[in-house]
Amino acid sequence: MDTITPQPRPAWIAGRPEQGEGTLLVSHPFDGTEVAAVAVPGTEQVERAVAAAAAVAPELRRAPAHVRADALDLLSRGLAERAEELAEVITAENGKPFKWSEAEVRRAISVFRIAAEEARRFTGDLQRLDTDESGEGRLAMIRRVPRGPVLGISPFNFPLNLVAHKVAPALAVGAPIIVKPAPRTPLSALILGELLAETGLPEGAFSVLPLGNEETRALVADPRLPVVSFTGSGPVGWALAEAAPRKHVVLELGGNAAAVVLGDWPDLPGAAARIATFGNYQAGQSCIAVQRVIVERSVADEFVPALVSAVAALNTGDPYDTGVDVGPVVDEAAAKRIMDWIAEAVAGGAKVLTGGTREGTSVEPTVLTDVPPDARVWADEIFGPVLAVSVVDSADEALAAVNASAFGLQAGIFTRDLPLAFRASAELEVGGVIIGDVPSYRADQMPYGGVKGSGVGREGVLAAMRDLTEDRVTVFAGIDL
Ligand code: SIN
Repeated sequence: MDTITPQPRPAWIAGRPEQGEGTLLVSHPFDGTEVAAVAVPGTEQVERAVAAAAAVAPELRRAPAHVRADALDLLSRGLAERAEELAEVITAENGKPFKWSEAEVRRAISVFRIAAEEARRFTGDLQRLDTDESGEGRLAMIRRVPRGPVLGISPFNFPLNLVAHKVAPALAVGAPIIVKPAPRTPLSALILGELLAETGLPEGAFSVLPLGNEETRALVADPRLPVVSFTGSGPVGWALAEAAPRKHVVLELGGNAAAVVLGDWPDLPGAAARIATFGNYQAGQSCIAVQRVIVERSVADEFVPALVSAVAALNTGDPYDTGVDVGPVVDEAAAKRIMDWIAEAVAGGAKVLTGGTREGTSVEPTVLTDVPPDARVWADEIFGPVLAVSVVDSADEALAAVNASAFGLQAGIFTRDLPLAFRASAELEVGGVIIGDVPSYRADQMPYGGVKGSGVGREGVLAAMRDLTEDRVTVFAGIDL
């Protein structure tokens, strides 16, 4: 597919396509070839987008549920109709193997469908107040009211689906949305703009602004956008929250997700295969890709070689090649950083069981063991195809090791021990615990988000709808309950 168009791909300003004042070049992470040029809007265009979002907010808030839901269903169908094109664009801009791009498009189709379903039933609550004498004859009606226009800042690793997770819940609750896609991967978001333009939503309901960091800081500070929903790196996310102390800020940040394999797990090759796949899918560039592998000593001698063989069997290379499992990381700087972190671990005593090399932006899937706990491949977020294995003596030690992290997004526990699974669910300091699978499992309707360094607030369609709205209580006095 030819992604290059005669003119830069237009930005979407208050629902209309416009050329910008500047141009952004998008290149393919695997070989650096130019993929597309994109319009970068200027200050006046950004101002129009924000002013239109603020102006349309009351109208959109009042739009009937069926109107919002129909628009979301239309988006879901529109994505399905353009699924192949979108998957090609995702691979072109992001470099993930085509099968993972196809999976991402399928998820985005579901996100809009789920949002349509939720929009139809999202309602408030009634609360009786006659629990005390002073409340006799009184009833509270609690409505969910949009906090206001949303600024959604999305990352490069899921250029379509993590944009869908900003746009769909906002429209479902009737809040205008301004999307600021990642500069490396704006194309999928701009195509979503084309589909949004076909929904008939009022002018200002959406804008897609491929902007640089400076202009984004101004948007974050703009009081007309009271909600900022950010997915990306920790340092950027926390700095943004500090810069907007009066706003409602949702941060979906990184993690160093752990997969725990306990002695009772009956299928060790199966666990090894899942961990090998989900430590390396998208070249490890997912916030819930497996990074830390914590294995109980009683099964380590069988499990670790199975893991190493499963990882070594993964094919690395050109993401357009259907036999390739692991594509490039986003750029050369990322590949170099990953190699530096591996070297740091090895200098501290870690052993490389497989991998440990790179060619350009392709890092060979790597398994390390004996990693010092303060090495960055263990303690920080690698965001690359690297697994660090640690052997522990008991389930207690395993759970403690999961929690000994600055992050807390999701954890996966391979066990059939039900009481232990409940304990893990209660005691692990994470946003999600996956029993019997990798931490990378995410269904798009589930609440999704982290604790500690992994962020605040939740995505997942309904959870995000709650996050983008606030309670408004109305008390009726003197009524017959
Ligand atoms: C993320 O990287 O935070 C998103 C993971 C996913 O949606 O599967």
